[in-house]
Amino acid sequence: MAGKKNAASAGGQGGAARDGGAQGSGRPANAVPSGKRGGASGGQGAGHSNSHGRGRQGAHRRKPERVPCRLERPVFFVGFMGAGKTSVSRRLARLCGISSIDMDSYIERRDGRRIRDIFAEDGEGFFRDLETQVLRELTQAEPALVSCGGGVVLRPENRELLREGGFTVFLKVEADEAKSRISDPSTRPLLGDAEAARKTNAERLPLYEEVADATVDTSGRGVTALAFAVRSILEREGVLWRLK
Ligand code: S3P
Repeated sequence: MAGKKNAASAGGQGGAARDGGAQGSGRPANAVPSGKRGGASGGQGAGHSNSHGRGRQGAHRRKPERVPCRLERPVFFVGFMGAGKTSVSRRLARLCGISSIDMDSYIERRDGRRIRDIFAEDGEGFFRDLETQVLRELTQAEPALVSCGGGVVLRPENRELLREGGFTVFLKVEADEAKSRISDPSTRPLLGDAEAARKTNAERLPLYEEVADATVDTSGRGVTALAFAVRSILEREGVLWRLK
């Protein structure tokens, strides 16, 4: 199988929180509201409270610079549950004045049920069918920053869509750190205990690498730092342009 070349990468340390941050402005009709799964903030990335002792309320936090940008094609964020896909894509959307779409929220809205209820009532196969449908639509829609569910890479058909349909950013995380960022594990039917999470993450690693145009190590890094790192990569790769 032809692996997708990692055109760019960025390393670092810290913790990307999930579900934090805001969504891009100018969102299309099909974009989802902020607050995935009830909007609970689920982590401890520097976007919320950082290792320098300045939390969200910190008086010294500088507002990140916002620069209106244009996206040339869809950008898909992939990675394990808790990698920070939703948080980082929302933060980046806000920084750039572009839209972000969370695939799981999109599916929940369309199906009228929570992900965990879809899994419980109709099983994983049914959920994966919805996921493929939505992914296909988003490759053809107005370009947006799309956070994908962690298992999107499982189907070869989806990997093909990710490789061909946009630019894919792999947010890399260790399973233990990812688990610690998830405040309510009941929202992730496939997370399992620590050992199961490590095994699943390890099994999926080659699949994430296969679709990645860029890989960003999220360990020890906060949401804003990651959003800036991704922005630099997207600019360098000609996927994102500043409008001024
Ligand atoms: C899944 C990840 C979840 C969600 C579903 C399945 C997975 O999304 O799509 O619970 O198989 O890894 P997040 O990665 O956004 O948590």
